[in-house]
Amino acid sequence: MSTLSTQEKSLLRQALAARENAYAPYSRFQVGAVLTVADGSTFCGCNIENAAFGPTICAERTAAVKAISEGHSKFRRIVIAGNSKDFCYPCGACRQFLYEFSPDMEVICLNRAREAKRMTLRALMPCGFDSTFL
Ligand code: THU
Repeated sequence: MSTLSTQEKSLLRQALAARENAYAPYSRFQVGAVLTVADGSTFCGCNIENAAFGPTICAERTAAVKAISEGHSKFRRIVIAGNSKDFCYPCGACRQFLYEFSPDMEVICLNRAREAKRMTLRALMPCGFDSTFL
């Protein structure tokens, strides 16, 4: 478990606010994420489900595609707010997606009690696959 700085607490609030926009009528599992990029700006995301299930996008990737499409592809940190008893960790697809851009970024996962667990993406994704293999 980690304590959060004042700045990180503000990110936590942004992630919780983003979660309010989640579209999750099928799983009812709402997730919000806030991504901080190299220049300090932030991008929020929520999960967006689909009746066809496959096109569902997680909160983390929503935030990441918003940032990248605005020209920001160096990530510092992502804060993820699910509503589970355990910490809400990014799924495998999101780990891979983020790893492409910033394998050493920080990942802060929250649980329902708003406690935080701090990790690096590299720790969550050992032996990750990236462009150096191609
Ligand atoms: N989900 C996320 O948005 N982020 C995670 O870290 C875990 C899972 C979403 C995908 C789906 O809409 C719902 O949570 C249940 O899997």
